[in-house]
Amino acid sequence: MTYSRHRILILDFGSQYTQLIARRIRECGVYSEIRPFNQPLGDLQAQNICGIVLSGGPASVYGDDAPRIELEVLTSGVPVLGICYGLQLITHLMGGSVIPGERREYGRAEIEILQRSELFAGMGEGVPEVVWMSHGDRIERLPEGFIPLARSRNAPIAAFTDSTQRLFGVQFHPEVSHTEHGDQLLRNFLFQICKAEPDWTMGSFVDEQIDAIRSRVGDTRVVLALSGGVDSTVVAALLARAIGDRLHPIFVDNGLLRGGEALRVAKVVREQLRLDLTVVDASERFLSALAGIEDPEQKRKIIGREFITVFEEEARRIQNVTFLAQGTLYPDVIESVSLKGPSAVIKSHHNVGGLPDRMNLQLLEPLRELFKDEVRRLGEALALPDEVIHRQPFPGPGMAVRILGAVTLERVRLLQAADAIVQEEVAAEGLERSLWQSFAVLLPIRTVGVMGDERTYENVAALRAVHSTDGMTADWARLPYDLLERISRRMTNEVSGISRVVYDISSKPPSTIEWE
Ligand code: XMP
Repeated sequence: MTYSRHRILILDFGSQYTQLIARRIRECGVYSEIRPFNQPLGDLQAQNICGIVLSGGPASVYGDDAPRIELEVLTSGVPVLGICYGLQLITHLMGGSVIPGERREYGRAEIEILQRSELFAGMGEGVPEVVWMSHGDRIERLPEGFIPLARSRNAPIAAFTDSTQRLFGVQFHPEVSHTEHGDQLLRNFLFQICKAEPDWTMGSFVDEQIDAIRSRVGDTRVVLALSGGVDSTVVAALLARAIGDRLHPIFVDNGLLRGGEALRVAKVVREQLRLDLTVVDASERFLSALAGIEDPEQKRKIIGREFITVFEEEARRIQNVTFLAQGTLYPDVIESVSLKGPSAVIKSHHNVGGLPDRMNLQLLEPLRELFKDEVRRLGEALALPDEVIHRQPFPGPGMAVRILGAVTLERVRLLQAADAIVQEEVAAEGLERSLWQSFAVLLPIRTVGVMGDERTYENVAALRAVHSTDGMTADWARLPYDLLERISRRMTNEVSGISRVVYDISSKPPSTIEWE
């Protein structure tokens, strides 16, 4: 494969911020790639690598099993920026010394810039810079030829350079937003030091991925479990451009989807992406496997198992398949990329876990370096319709984890009707995009009510609406009372079987977004 544009390589030592470094660099219009620290680098020039960033990490460089790199990475002439652990590693490998600090330094700190340099160009003129620190160790002695560039109260050497060897290090984290001029520092590294070109856009990502997919897949075929969510639809669109009808998207209708979902997905994929979609209606099979099951974990396991069986049956009909494509995103792979290195098993997506081994397929995961909002921008670059791009996440086990207690066809229908009202009203209020998720839940209790002159004894629906950036934490949305009122009135009037609506005001943690 040829690499047309400059790229920055980020070597990952396990920092929780590694992903952010990549993202910030992409935001500057430069392509960057994360690799585990211990993966062989290969020929840097052939890969067009114009700079290397060493990430932070939890280890201490003087520890016995501290993650290390070959000295050649530092002496190849390609500029290197070490961040936190990266700075300490440069120090250690180049002959300086790192020791435990007397005091750990976490959070906000101020640094004083001691020396003019390309790295700090346009920063710290006469005033301290506010930065974000997170370290216990500190540099005791710099390697020969290195000069300190900045100091903080607890880190007498908070930044350094050996400008002849193009090596730079910062103890703080320029990638986090709390470091006031972190963007400036990264820009200085990219454009002044590495001479990178800001020529990377989502459009160029599309071109590069298409090239990469074509050369990997050759003339074989690829199956994709398409759910209609933004991630798998973006993967479908990308693959469609790369290999056309050698992509075989399969949509499994498990009968636990929102009302009309299967038709909607089929329409988009067939009409907009012009792909030959296989739709498998397996609803009866899923519902009968779930009959009488109340335990949430058991429900998930059954659904996962059925999914694999159905998908496998369909995929086996297609000849010459060597790849399974998945919409895995960076947050899904972070544990496996970090520290454990290339030999670590990549976490399988919950929907298709186990399949690649069973069917002897290789994984194709073109989105694995991206974040959700970047995937949405990629969807725009691929001209996907807005309704796909801005769709709220929907869990793989679908309504089964929103119907508390046993799942029956009748209860699925009841919840679909209630949920449709939530979707309509939230959209009418213009809140669909700003909410991470909004949906109805069917509770396993009945409650007394009155309709006309009759006493009723019917179901309770709960309404859940949350704000979140990544689904890891969430807060309940302060929906307008009028909206709550409309949803409640419509549900109790229009959905026969629901006579009471409650609003869930729990955050995550300690609750979760879904009820099961
Ligand atoms: P929780 O309920 O754990 O959910 O706070 C966090 C996010 O993940 C979604 N979710 C799932 N998605 N398969 C999925 O594809 C699942 O089994 C699953 N469980 C939860 C949930 O909708 C929320 O966005």
